[in-house]
Amino acid sequence: MLRTDTAVTIYRKDYTAPAFRIDEVALEIDLVPERTRVVNRMRMTRTDAGKPLVLAGEGLELAGATVDGKALSGLQASGDTLTIDAVPADVGASFTLELTTYCNPAANSSLMGLYVSNGNFFTQCEAEGFRKITYFLDRPDVMTVYTVTLRASKADYPVLLSNGNLVAERDLPDGRHEAVWHDPFKKPSYLFALVAGKLECIEERIQSASGKEKLLQVWVEAQDLGKTRHAMDSLIHSIHWDERRFGLELDLDRFMIVAVGDFNMGAMENKGLNIFNTKYVLANAETATDVDFANIESVVGHEYFHNWTGNRVTCRDWFQLSLKEGLTVFRDQEFSADMAAQAAAQAGNEAAAASARAVKRIEDVRVLRQAQFPEDAGPMAHPVRPDSYEEINNFYTVTVYEKGAEVVRMYQTLLGRDGFRKGMDLYFQRHDGHAVTCDDFRAAMADANGRDLTQFGRWYSQAGTPVVAVEGHHDAATHTYTLTLRQRCEPVGIEVNSGIQKQPFHIPFAIGLIDKNGRDLPLRLRGEAASPSPVTTRVLDFTETKQTFVFEDVAEAPLPSLLRNFSAPVIVEYGYTTEQLTFQLAHDSDPFNRWEAGQRLATDTLLRMVTDIQHGHAPAVDPALVEALRAVVADTSLDPAFREQMLILPAESYLAERMDVADPAAIHTARRTLRRTLAEKLNAELLRAYHYNQTEGPYSPDAVSAGKRALKNIALGYLVETEASEALALAEQQYAGATNMTDRMGALSAMVNSYAPGREAALADFYTRFADDALVIDKWFSLQAMQPGAAGKPTLATVRALMAHPAFTLRNPNRARSLIFSFCSGNPAQFHAADGSGYAFWAEQVLALDAINPQVSARLARALDRWRKYVPTLRDAMQDALKRVAAHPSLSRDVREIVGKALA
Ligand code: TRP
Ligand code: ZN
Repeated sequence: MLRTDTAVTIYRKDYTAPAFRIDEVALEIDLVPERTRVVNRMRMTRTDAGKPLVLAGEGLELAGATVDGKALSGLQASGDTLTIDAVPADVGASFTLELTTYCNPAANSSLMGLYVSNGNFFTQCEAEGFRKITYFLDRPDVMTVYTVTLRASKADYPVLLSNGNLVAERDLPDGRHEAVWHDPFKKPSYLFALVAGKLECIEERIQSASGKEKLLQVWVEAQDLGKTRHAMDSLIHSIHWDERRFGLELDLDRFMIVAVGDFNMGAMENKGLNIFNTKYVLANAETATDVDFANIESVVGHEYFHNWTGNRVTCRDWFQLSLKEGLTVFRDQEFSADMAAQAAAQAGNEAAAASARAVKRIEDVRVLRQAQFPEDAGPMAHPVRPDSYEEINNFYTVTVYEKGAEVVRMYQTLLGRDGFRKGMDLYFQRHDGHAVTCDDFRAAMADANGRDLTQFGRWYSQAGTPVVAVEGHHDAATHTYTLTLRQRCEPVGIEVNSGIQKQPFHIPFAIGLIDKNGRDLPLRLRGEAASPSPVTTRVLDFTETKQTFVFEDVAEAPLPSLLRNFSAPVIVEYGYTTEQLTFQLAHDSDPFNRWEAGQRLATDTLLRMVTDIQHGHAPAVDPALVEALRAVVADTSLDPAFREQMLILPAESYLAERMDVADPAAIHTARRTLRRTLAEKLNAELLRAYHYNQTEGPYSPDAVSAGKRALKNIALGYLVETEASEALALAEQQYAGATNMTDRMGALSAMVNSYAPGREAALADFYTRFADDALVIDKWFSLQAMQPGAAGKPTLATVRALMAHPAFTLRNPNRARSLIFSFCSGNPAQFHAADGSGYAFWAEQVLALDAINPQVSARLARALDRWRKYVPTLRDAMQDALKRVAAHPSLSRDVREIVGKALA
């Protein structure tokens, strides 16, 4: 690849409607790995006078073109576009354009468009991959009906799949065969898909809500058939959940999931033919962890839910990406929460269900804070609906996905569940079959509820994480409690030099007040009448820069429980004392805020320890934290899954973000010291938790069983930190006797991270046991890339040695991620080695990957986003590495945008 073109920025404000409509399209595709022929026949209508017909295409060889059957001569593509002049000039005039092109799927290592993976054909068209298959109006606001004829050697490609329904199949004379698929629903080109090859499936027939029979299939390579049950169950659960919660039914007679080992992201929602990274399909007890099982459920749900939020109603342009992604992530989060709550309610009671929901919420918020907050404070900061981009692939971000999901969640928090559902119903009523905008979604929510959500629109247009500073004042004389909220949000990313005047957000701020016995107070705002059934959690409409809320009948000074259940994606500042936090941790009726109190305590302690270390002092562990966590580990009235969450210390990357000048080495030492101290001081409690949370009987991935294993394994991880021989023996026993991957990995990672004597033997055993299972070997690489490093043995040396391992390849994204990304993004202390060796490695790998797969390389490139935040020696070394990459003569547009913005 050689791209020397200068960066072109695409702006949201430049949107114009297409000048042509495609009424229908017929594709005939003759699949040959090195030379696939595509005949593309489009019935088109001009919708705007004066504009030329310009089609997008990339890497195509044009072999013929006709308009209404007449050959066009002298037609030549210029760059990535093909302009056809010989079309009618009048608005409303229709014509048929037929184009014949060739492409080379075997040589396509970008994994966008049509490519070959392990001998089979797959496609990935979102966002702009369809143009690598044929010339087209490759933009999401051009929706049409597809009929697809696939032809290929029957021996080599016995299975031929595309979107919609199979309408014909026949053998052809030369050992080839043909299948014709028709998708009755109009769709944009990014939802087109085809799959061809040697695949097998499991299938189920189910009835949808209205009693129609549906055929469900999960397609994989033959040896993986035994790992498809969980994906199928997850699909069935997703279908029923969307019917119950949103009244949305599957619209096709047939729904297929296909797994592929080479894939850039998690999965893709192509209409009726979802294509998945094997990582999010294949699982059995021996090879997949509880986390893998949960991820599969959530990704299968996510792609399925796109059928309505994304496919039936799609995006007008790619700036609206969060319209489908934020909404669909919100839906998959709610699905997973409901599934976990259901399992907990079956095993326990309503309190257990609430705790299970809180665990899911904690996990989602952890991702937001660890990944999205930094993005929103760095050079790639952008609003949920960006205003510009150079390469759209770079905007499939945690901001668009996860912050976008928070924005959708805020509608539900403001309007209530029923109000939100009314908004969704109106959204589909208005926009089914259309390509629309985030503003259309907001209007549906507002109109269905008679609410003015104008100010709420700022969540889409302003980037950055708002900070809410809180002060509370109790007046003993008047029995009032006054809460003063102030919000601020400085310009970030490309906002910085844009002259933007940022305006206050509409923040749904949920609060409670806790009395000295730990009970919630009834909440009555000044001016409101007393209610017979007062509520104890309220969502305040916080819309001004500074706003005051006065609560009445508050006899004594309460403890405020702020932003309950994380009701908005903001940072809350309040001067809690250690005593208040330990009290809140023990008593808050909001389980999320119990966890939050623990995180604040641990963060405060760790940041003080970092300062100690930087000053050459021995870091002091706050005994209050130790005692608070002792109570948590020992409290068997708390669910194991919740206790495990409480025991996860804030991540090194999160602590780095919390510092003005990040010091990864000191952070690592502080965190490790705290872990060791907790392991020693809570030894008895941890051991008890370990022994009491064994799961007997056959493996089940449900949230309750998974919670027990999680608590047991985190306890083991702590115990092994002490290097006591009993603890090491426990890990070795668990490794050898494990009957599921969660326990085997739990033990192996404890041994690897603590450099226990048995670790080399266990790593070798693990490799031989699972040598044939790519996804498990990914775990093996990843674990070693994330190890803390021992004296004289920096982890980078291990990583470099592993790159020479016969099982390593840069060409498979999962494998590249397992070793290189795990090191550069998952092991901060080793990556930020003082000698800058990590950055040199990063630059090398970004360039090597860019020549193979720009999309994957650009993800790795983002590992240096926050370079300005680090201590000067590291900062300068990172800047050098970025400059080295930026100076390379043939960078992809993808990587160029990332390093360009980082250095700007
Ligand atoms: N739309 C997909 C999802 O969120 C993700 C996706 C976007 C994707 N672009 C991709 C997947 C490119 C693979 C490759 O589910
Ligand atoms: Zn999605």
